[in-house]
Amino acid sequence: MDEQNRPIHTFQVCHVMEPNQNNWLRSGWIQRQAAQKVYVELRFTLRDCNSIPWVSGTCKETFNLFYLQTDEPLPLGTRFRSSDYAKVDTIAADESFTQTDLGDRVLRLNTEVREVGPVTRKGFYLAFQDVGACIALVSVKVFYKRCPSTLRNLAAFPDTVPRLDSSSLVEVRGACVENAEERDTPKLYCGADGDWLVPLGRCVCSIGHEEMDGYCQACQPGFYKAYAGNIKCSKCPLHSSSHDQAATICHCDKGYYRAIKDPSNMACTRPPSAPRNLISVVNDTALFLQWTPPSDTGGRKDLTYNILCQRCDSNNEDGGAPQCEPCESDLRFIPRPLGLSGTSVAVLDFAMHTNYTFHVEAVNGVSGLGIAARSLANVTITTHQTGKIPPGPSLIGVVRKDWATHNSIALSWTEVEQPPSDIVDYEVKYYEKEQEQLSYSSTRTKAPSVVVSGLRPSTLYVFHVRARTVAGHTAYSPKFEFETADEDPDMADHGQVLVVVTASVGGFSLLVILTLFLLITGRCQGYIKARMKSEEKRTRFQSGHVPFSGIKTYVDPDTYEDPTQAVQEFTKEIDPSRICIERVIGAGEFGEVCSGLLRTPGKADIAVAIKTLKGGYMEQQRRDFLREASIMGQFNNPNIIRLEGVVTKSRPVMIVVEYMENGALDSFLRAHDGQFTAIQLVGMLRGIAVGMTYLADIGYIHRDLAARNILVDESLICKVSDFGMSRVLEDDPEAAYTTTGGKIPIRWTAPEAITYGKFSSASDVWSYGIAMWEVMSYGERPYWEMSNQDVILSIEEGYRLPAPMGCPVALHQLMMHCWQKERVQRPNFSEILTFLDKLIRNPSSLLTVVNNVHSYPESPEDMPDYPLFISIGDWLDSIKMSQYKNNFLAAGYTTLDSISTMSIDDIRRIGVCLIGHQRRIISSIQSLRLQLHHIQQSGFQV
Ligand code: ADE
Repeated sequence: MDEQNRPIHTFQVCHVMEPNQNNWLRSGWIQRQAAQKVYVELRFTLRDCNSIPWVSGTCKETFNLFYLQTDEPLPLGTRFRSSDYAKVDTIAADESFTQTDLGDRVLRLNTEVREVGPVTRKGFYLAFQDVGACIALVSVKVFYKRCPSTLRNLAAFPDTVPRLDSSSLVEVRGACVENAEERDTPKLYCGADGDWLVPLGRCVCSIGHEEMDGYCQACQPGFYKAYAGNIKCSKCPLHSSSHDQAATICHCDKGYYRAIKDPSNMACTRPPSAPRNLISVVNDTALFLQWTPPSDTGGRKDLTYNILCQRCDSNNEDGGAPQCEPCESDLRFIPRPLGLSGTSVAVLDFAMHTNYTFHVEAVNGVSGLGIAARSLANVTITTHQTGKIPPGPSLIGVVRKDWATHNSIALSWTEVEQPPSDIVDYEVKYYEKEQEQLSYSSTRTKAPSVVVSGLRPSTLYVFHVRARTVAGHTAYSPKFEFETADEDPDMADHGQVLVVVTASVGGFSLLVILTLFLLITGRCQGYIKARMKSEEKRTRFQSGHVPFSGIKTYVDPDTYEDPTQAVQEFTKEIDPSRICIERVIGAGEFGEVCSGLLRTPGKADIAVAIKTLKGGYMEQQRRDFLREASIMGQFNNPNIIRLEGVVTKSRPVMIVVEYMENGALDSFLRAHDGQFTAIQLVGMLRGIAVGMTYLADIGYIHRDLAARNILVDESLICKVSDFGMSRVLEDDPEAAYTTTGGKIPIRWTAPEAITYGKFSSASDVWSYGIAMWEVMSYGERPYWEMSNQDVILSIEEGYRLPAPMGCPVALHQLMMHCWQKERVQRPNFSEILTFLDKLIRNPSSLLTVVNNVHSYPESPEDMPDYPLFISIGDWLDSIKMSQYKNNFLAAGYTTLDSISTMSIDDIRRIGVCLIGHQRRIISSIQSLRLQLHHIQQSGFQV
């Protein structure tokens, strides 16, 4: 029965009473398929030998898993030879199948997974050996991992089996989905666990198709896409449509056209309507044709005009239709007859007694396409005997009398709707009607109105007006007759009143306009000043220290209004084809971190680390990601991680830095516990100090100096890395929120920075002291498992980390110096560097080491007795040193109280020989003492 009391089939054996059991169960032949490494998941129950009476000695609680590879199934009847099978592992249960006091059996299923392989033959058998356990095998699941076929960036990637070597990746090229085409070669990397990593390159949808749900779908009717790319289908432009799917262009509606050079997203257009208001103005032997543009330009801007001329025979003796022929070539056109962009032309060299008809044609880029009617306006003239031409039509409309006095008449008139060229002035010709042309007067006016004075009362006058343009006079308007008034003095001041009112209204408007202008320009000045301030701030900042120290000053990328400008200024763009990604080495806040090679033609490849920005990022994330590059790009020091460049112009966005073979300092030291000499460790500390001296000199405050942010190369050179505050806030798992809302790596941060946010190079020095402690303790966690709150309180109370075991006293003294409460009393980085150099030059100074917990500043002797609440056994279990329980008990250490005074010699004496184990135990004792001290200080009773 299973856990739900349902019957299940199992293979079981329970020969626990008989000695020397050797029972085998073998699977059928399992085909390997594409697997290189096979996983076997076993579900089984196992009885706890203690629960079976009278079985001691013979009962076992494990069984063994074996396998045999073959290219064919073994022939039927082949004798089983256990020696042919290779052992995979001994399998023990986490839970046991026991019997309760009441006799009810409680079934507990165990699940264990083992890796089998590498498997290379066509198939294999699994075999299970029982050596005397009470066991039921419930299920065996055999599987291998593969990166499942997937679609990414419009490319399909096939099912892929990962490499055997779990840290290296399989590079897989993708094939573009239907109706897509390649941009940068699409690639994915298949990781050991069957996950796809680091998408590179992409495909884009072809013309007529757009991306939808990872595929390229055809544009719907009414939409089109003329170019391949990851853009959507666009709605057909005005006056065009598409009736089928997957349109690459929209066709123009009837009567509308697209010129050859018109882009596909431009509305379809049509030829213009005819030019308007065509007039001819005559100046002796020249004819000036003027017109206004057509009311409908057809939706285009490329409007021009052509002049077409026809000469017709005016002396047609038959009285029939006049004979006309083209005459452009006989006449002179200024500037030219065709392709005019302006709205006038001068025509010269007329023949005598000839009728000329001029057509002005408006044309645009689509005239002549299709069968649209020509856009013509025409005018006909007849020359005199001399070849002179009579004047053209008047530009004047109706002439009106506005008012009249006994001796003056005020006239005004309208011009034709849009005069083809600027009117220079008007000539008003008038005479007394009764005198009828015997004598006449004339006056000129620039406005289309005039007050004609000096007239006689109650007299009828005849007026006609003509306009003068740059091309000469137009014809006179028709004649208009108006009469002066009887003698009446009241009307005299009318005009003046008007002038005063107009002037004052004008003056007020001027005042309003002036005020608005001042307001606007005032605001603009404010804006310009604000901009100047930010520029000024940056320029001052950038050039601040240069003249004095000769050292370049760090420029905070946040002082740039546009952060991409900082990226351009401080980083080099790398062509992604030069980057060859080899494996994933970690995960950052923004995406995977990979290692690989940077290729430069004619140069050796450089090993690099590549930080990638995951797809689907927000603009702010992209900025934060690249912010680190624009900081790093400003540094040039052998102990600062070197930026090779960035990839920002293609996806994924990447930051490429030099590769550091030994990775982060904290994990490197943990992996090599106790393996370096003091001089080697001081050499690492020196490297960090060199990098930090450089940063302090150029005015950069790191804020997150810690061993995890130091990288180590193959020659053990340490370089400072991880720049950019956003990462401190988001990425550093050590960063915690303070009461003021900041996120800070508490254990590494100086008190004034935690409390007041006062970060400085002096607070970096505090962090440097903590990093020194990490180095000298081979990656121990500062303040061990104390809570952040307790760390803050104990620092406040004056507690400082004790010297790690074996740490030269001089180094611990330097640490203590870095942890001065008053930041001005801390050494600066160049003083630290000088001190370390002295130690290196005089290695005997490193011989006095701290080996004894009694010599730590906080001595347990000072502490009162306190009740202890866990046993030695629990304590050793918690630090995974359970194997020494008997050593402690045998030596008489039975309470935590008793071990709190143990020295390293005591630890050795009770039989802990491995240096790593000695270190772990002594560190934990230090931690316990500190916690107990803190508990006692805060008045708690445990
Ligand atoms: N992890 C993060 N950055 C690295 C680098 N530059 N070298 C090696 N491992 C890293």
